[in-house]
Amino acid sequence: MSNVKAQSPSSARRVRKAVLPAAGLGTRFLPATKAQPKEMLPVVDKPLIQYVAEECVASGIEHIIIVTGKGKNAIEDHFDLAPSLERFLEEKGKKDQAEMVRRISNMVRVSYTRQKEPLGLGHAVLVARDLVGDEPFAVLLGDVIIPGNRPATKQLVEVYEATGIGAIAVEQVPREKTHLYGVVDGEPKPQAPWGQRLLRIRDLVEKPKPGKAPSNLAITGRYVLPPDIFDCLARTKPGSGNEIQLTDALRILAKERGLWALIYEGISYDAGDKLGFLKATVEIALQNPELGAEFRKYLKSLDL
Ligand code: G1P
Repeated sequence: MSNVKAQSPSSARRVRKAVLPAAGLGTRFLPATKAQPKEMLPVVDKPLIQYVAEECVASGIEHIIIVTGKGKNAIEDHFDLAPSLERFLEEKGKKDQAEMVRRISNMVRVSYTRQKEPLGLGHAVLVARDLVGDEPFAVLLGDVIIPGNRPATKQLVEVYEATGIGAIAVEQVPREKTHLYGVVDGEPKPQAPWGQRLLRIRDLVEKPKPGKAPSNLAITGRYVLPPDIFDCLARTKPGSGNEIQLTDALRILAKERGLWALIYEGISYDAGDKLGFLKATVEIALQNPELGAEFRKYLKSLDL
């Protein structure tokens, strides 16, 4: 059993940037996404992408790079200053709301780049290459939200900064659902502080056919990767769905540089999917300090 000693992160291992691919067409959520980006769908009172940006900030990320496409301008407006709205709120005496609106545009540095054609998740990440440069970075899928106090991205950053090897978040899913995800074949490499939750990836398969999944450990949509992934992406041919898949580039990275899978602590919601979105809404509403208690009462009152 190899034991990688945790060491203090050298500056080259600091994870300062995150790429948020947000160019997808959101076809699983039509018609809601016909004229608005799926990343702007609100869960309780915030758009999906704000939850993801907040996870970045809570994970120590200083610069977010959002990969957009046609029809995604609302995302840029959301993170921009809104002087007339702020003035309006202040004139009405709604100082708290004005402050909340201001906080969104000040919370982190955001840059945008566009994926001009929908060539896949891997291609979307490759589009961010120049903005990321030669340093490690996180990738967070804009439609997956992971509520809770221990951000999944932070957990991966800790693995990367201690070992210098990329790490991706995985979680157990029912066998009959593995065809919806990237699935990993990993060898447990228990070590403190992660124990059995850390695995060395032997292989990965994107959306395996039923019965062909190497395990039930599915990729959750959170990654921390070294810049070497860009060369792997540049060498990746179209795969599942005839798209350039991030998972296929990770196969190359795992073979050439090594890659960890971390069974992270937390629960993810695929809010780009209608049922996942409903579940996220209920969970997050129940935790909401203003609405939670009354909403719980309401749910209990339903004769289900
Ligand atoms: C993407 C990834 C897949 C991952 C999933 C998580 O697929 O390609 O490996 O498991 O996100 O949500 P998508 O859901 O975009 O088809």
